[in-house]
Amino acid sequence: MCGIIGYIGDRDASTILVQGLKRLEYRGYDSAGVATFTEGTIPVRRCLGKLENLERLLRDDPIEGKVGIGHTRWATHGRPSEENAHPHRAGKVVVIHNGIIENYLELRAHLGKLGRKFTSETDTEVISHLIEEAVLSGRDIVAATREAIAQLEGSFSIVVMHQDDPETLVAAKSATPIVIGLGEGENFIASDIPAILDHTRRVLFLEDGEMAVVRRDGVTLTTFAGEPVSREPRVVSWDPVTAQKGGYRHFLLKEIHEQPQAIIDTMRGRLLQEEGDVSLDELAGCEWATNAKRITFVACGTAWHACQVGKYFVEQIARIPSDVDYGSEFRYRDPVIEDGTVVVVVSQSGETADTLAAIEAARERGAKVIAICNVVDSSIARRADAVIYTHAGPEISVASTKAFTTQLTVLYLLGLFLARRRGVVDAEAAAPLIADLVNLPSHVEECLRRERAIEKIAKKYGDARGFLYLGRGINYPIALEGALKLKEISYIHAEGYAAGEMKHGPIALITEQVPVVVLLPKDAVYGKSLSNMKEVESRGGRIIAVTDSPSAELEDIAWEIIQVPTTNPCLLPVLLTIPMQLLAYYIAVYRGTDVDQPRNLAKSVTVE
Ligand code: M6R
Repeated sequence: MCGIIGYIGDRDASTILVQGLKRLEYRGYDSAGVATFTEGTIPVRRCLGKLENLERLLRDDPIEGKVGIGHTRWATHGRPSEENAHPHRAGKVVVIHNGIIENYLELRAHLGKLGRKFTSETDTEVISHLIEEAVLSGRDIVAATREAIAQLEGSFSIVVMHQDDPETLVAAKSATPIVIGLGEGENFIASDIPAILDHTRRVLFLEDGEMAVVRRDGVTLTTFAGEPVSREPRVVSWDPVTAQKGGYRHFLLKEIHEQPQAIIDTMRGRLLQEEGDVSLDELAGCEWATNAKRITFVACGTAWHACQVGKYFVEQIARIPSDVDYGSEFRYRDPVIEDGTVVVVVSQSGETADTLAAIEAARERGAKVIAICNVVDSSIARRADAVIYTHAGPEISVASTKAFTTQLTVLYLLGLFLARRRGVVDAEAAAPLIADLVNLPSHVEECLRRERAIEKIAKKYGDARGFLYLGRGINYPIALEGALKLKEISYIHAEGYAAGEMKHGPIALITEQVPVVVLLPKDAVYGKSLSNMKEVESRGGRIIAVTDSPSAELEDIAWEIIQVPTTNPCLLPVLLTIPMQLLAYYIAVYRGTDVDQPRNLAKSVTVE
């Protein structure tokens, strides 16, 4: 997620901007930049990489001024580079932006016809041109910003400067956060509180659809339509570390709670609801993808679990044969790749050594490769023939949460995309599948509302010796993921099993000391899963059932029941995942482990 800072006052702006950006470093970024008002102009300094590079640049080529904006970029549209770094300029207008503009290609084409030239690959640059167009037609910077944002679709928070109005910064928010910091004779704008906490604790949070005109001596809030908004400032008491975590105790919990938004960001611009279709621009012209005879998924860890669910999507929705392998196995087993095989690799970081090596092994054998990645321009993204990005934002906690559910979102989109292109599913049949996806974020919110109940369950079972996780079919990988999450952060041994396999061995483990988490959707094998559970219960096992359909029979045998909303069977894995994450999290907290940095684990495994 990108970082935003703005300053207007009497101190040296570039120092305050860089300081503020440093407080946002934890969010991850690949490039950075600042701009200030200086003697009737707005010089911009930008660079690729770390803030140290920007500081070096500013030492070699300083910019003065008491008003300015700064940005750290996490690439979404366009690779990380100096040209794509913010701020972006169009004539006298300079803009920074967080979020995704869905209709930027359309706007870019329109602006191109007006003779506008673009110098970056970003969606942001269209905003600066739209504002400049409005200024040239006689609007002031506030009205011009209002006119420009009326044309934007997607999520954005922006801050705008205009060369002829050095006493004004304009901020606007839709879906991504903006906070205004109030000082004495100076004011601040930021995407997150840590950026301004060194200077003030009096803040105003913008709501979606609101703008702020920020001057040295005051701040005016309005709606996008220009209606005045009156809001009392709040005083934040957070220390800097709590502020980085958005008030959550751990990054992991913050990231669990970010999932509804991360899923929205990931499907943004990819749903053609009225046409009963999805669009994956990244696969435009890739006939080899739509004509695939087999899809082989390759990944590691949590991403491998996502692939296991992805296999169901491409088989069940698109009817393409599919298999899944670990990166570390695939690369060394001399795989037979038949003509027409497409290899889909999935990776949050895009740097996992085994997955990267698997791409080479696949390509050497003539396969085309699609990467599903969270980090733009990562090594895996660069080596693949096509990349579909998840838009989860930076994942800081070592245990993967929002990356996983956004991977599932992309895999579902891929299944639908292939099914529609191959004529396996028509628009009418696709429409409800797409509607279910649209409802997914609110269903995830509903799962998150079970948090307090799950916390209580965690305390009750947190001393267990081990855990067994059971699931069937498309939910079996979620049992594996639940077990992995628990192992990683609580250090309790946990095993995920296909429920039907339990009687072939793991049943021997069952005692009161080994609780059994059962994923139990109301599907064709509900009855069979209940029978499996009766076997557990009759051996003294304590059952924690996670289901969309509690029943009297279930209540008789389960010690705990966690209910999730009902949705189509392909999307239920996403909902069942949320209680798995929360249970692991609260057990880890109960046991006092280092939740965000569990022992022996690295966020990105770049070695074999
Ligand atoms: O960055 P990647 O998705 O390629 O990483 C793969 C695994 O290393 C990763 O998912 C790991 O299993 C996580 N710690 C899971 O929480």
